[in-house]
Amino acid sequence: MAACEPLNHYLRAMEEMLKQINIHSEEISSFAASDADSLEQFRIKFLGVKGLIKAMMGDMKNVPVDRKKEFGQIMNGFKNLAEEKYESEKLRIRQLGAAPRSHLDSSLPGSPMPSGSRHPVTLMRNRIVDIFQRLSFTVAEGPEIEDDWHNFTALNLDENHPARDMQDTFYLSTDPAILLRTHTSNVQIREMQKHQLPIRIICPGRVYRNETISARSHCFFHQVEGLYIDEHVSFADLKQTLYFFVKEMFGEDVKVRFRPSYFPFTEPSAEMDISCLLCKGDGCAVCKRTGWLEILGCGMVHPNVLANCGIDPEKYTGFAFGMGVERPALLKYGITDIRLFSENDVRFLQQFSGV
Ligand code: PHE
Repeated sequence: MAACEPLNHYLRAMEEMLKQINIHSEEISSFAASDADSLEQFRIKFLGVKGLIKAMMGDMKNVPVDRKKEFGQIMNGFKNLAEEKYESEKLRIRQLGAAPRSHLDSSLPGSPMPSGSRHPVTLMRNRIVDIFQRLSFTVAEGPEIEDDWHNFTALNLDENHPARDMQDTFYLSTDPAILLRTHTSNVQIREMQKHQLPIRIICPGRVYRNETISARSHCFFHQVEGLYIDEHVSFADLKQTLYFFVKEMFGEDVKVRFRPSYFPFTEPSAEMDISCLLCKGDGCAVCKRTGWLEILGCGMVHPNVLANCGIDPEKYTGFAFGMGVERPALLKYGITDIRLFSENDVRFLQQFSGV
């Protein structure tokens, strides 16, 4: 009996090894590497120098001699299984890495594409310009930094003219006097100097006045001024042009009135009011209970202005008008504070997309 002891020991060791092979064969067959790391774990576990297969090969010494050949074949089969699995998974992982991996989850909501919007002042300026373009006015633009002559003197405001105080001016230098234009009338002068008559232009642009900033006024704002010069241009032409503008801009029901006024560069001069858009003329806080809103200044171009630009005032006459852009924009969009226009608050500006 005692002679059988070692043999039994060998057989038990061998059975144990066969059991292990069965279990691990299943594990190897069903293995699928999720990435290079898990494949490496697999290699270390089965095929590494301290791996399972190396250890089992070492245990071959416990297999009875007469079964060594048979067992060796089983071991080789097991080893091949692990090696083949390793190679095929290696290939698969590599192909997976090379293929463009899709990160797209088409069930996710799309990422927002915020679109820009036009500034309300630009919207209003474009509306004004558009109406006058339909009357064959063309757009003319000029410098915001201007000399004294184009901003004042040529417009019949010589050096000591009291009307210079009507517009508090930002001077950039005094000798020579360079300033930020206080109106876009400087463009009218520059166009008249070109002597290409008739002239039928509108001049939109930014202007500057040294005024206290409040909800109602700012130190810069925008204007659209107009100028029409030809032979036989009359005040009736001016009125018809502005009537057309008001109807197109504010609608058929809006009433218009002209009040006599004074500007050094026009004679006669007038201011034009429209019936209040909010209370329809009944009187409210916006129109200061008058029922009227002042929207522009106008008049017949002063003969001195024509002469200053080399145009014969005996032959040519013309009309001019000028309006602010912010005021009608406030009315149209129901905005109560002019400062909002220049604060660049995106929450404010976004409200005008699609307008
Ligand atoms: N230039 C004037 C202003 O800025 C407006 C105006 C233009 C008035 C043309 C009459 C004629 O206030």
